[in-house]
Amino acid sequence: MKYVRDIPFKEFVDSNHKAVDEDLAELRRSNENESVPLIFTETEEILGLLIGLTHPSRILEIGTAHGYSSLYFAKKLPDAHITTIERNPVMIESARAEFASRKEGERIDLRTGDAIEILDELVKNLADADQSEKYDFVFIDAAKSHYREFLEAAEKICTKDALIVCDNILLNGWILQAEGSAAKRHRTSIKYMKKFIEYIRSRDDLEVSILTGADGLAVIRFINEN
Ligand SMILES: C[S@@+](CC[C@H](N)C(=O)[O-])C[C@H]1O[C@@H](n2cnc3c(N)ncnc32)[C@H](O)[C@@H]1O
Repeated sequence: MKYVRDIPFKEFVDSNHKAVDEDLAELRRSNENESVPLIFTETEEILGLLIGLTHPSRILEIGTAHGYSSLYFAKKLPDAHITTIERNPVMIESARAEFASRKEGERIDLRTGDAIEILDELVKNLADADQSEKYDFVFIDAAKSHYREFLEAAEKICTKDALIVCDNILLNGWILQAEGSAAKRHRTSIKYMKKFIEYIRSRDDLEVSILTGADGLAVIRFINEN
């Protein structure tokens, strides 16, 4: 198949995208204007489809930034509880303000600090907990070199039917073609993302779907023996 990335897919999806509401549309605009990282519209649409099909009630998100995707989950799922993890103090301050100014923020638990440490705490508290206390949807969207550690911790505190979605697995296409100075700057992330994809593919207990929309997503499910 021919490589067709020159076609402006992103503009097409953006121009057809329907925001959940005007509040979230405005938050997307302001995040984009301030160059705050947030999910692409196409990623949002794929996440919307997945949560619409699975109706998760406890979501774990790794990588909050200003809280756009947390608020997206909270608005789409009015009964869900979201735990989201962020370590950058500037992001934390903004996310706190965004959550405090909306009623959906009451269902979002912002945990601050390095995700590896916060996940360790969550594992201590939840590893032996009942299925109903564990997470049934995980969204991994933080340091691209640590996806394996994030996944290995998250899976200890997930229900057996959970979906785990990992964003940015194409890293701007660099996992296929790492050319130019930007790719050089991100070489560590590229190396670890390639290893991460090999790792999830090598596990017989996981069903892995690699989606190439937006910046690439890996959608992971546990293969449960009944
Ligand atoms: C792509 S942004 C998240 C965007 C957000 N999910 C959204 O769509 O609105 C990634 C965030 O993860 C945070 N991050 C990166 N590595 C982290 C780590 N090890 N622990 C906690 N947060 C981390 C960064 O500070 C950044 O704000």
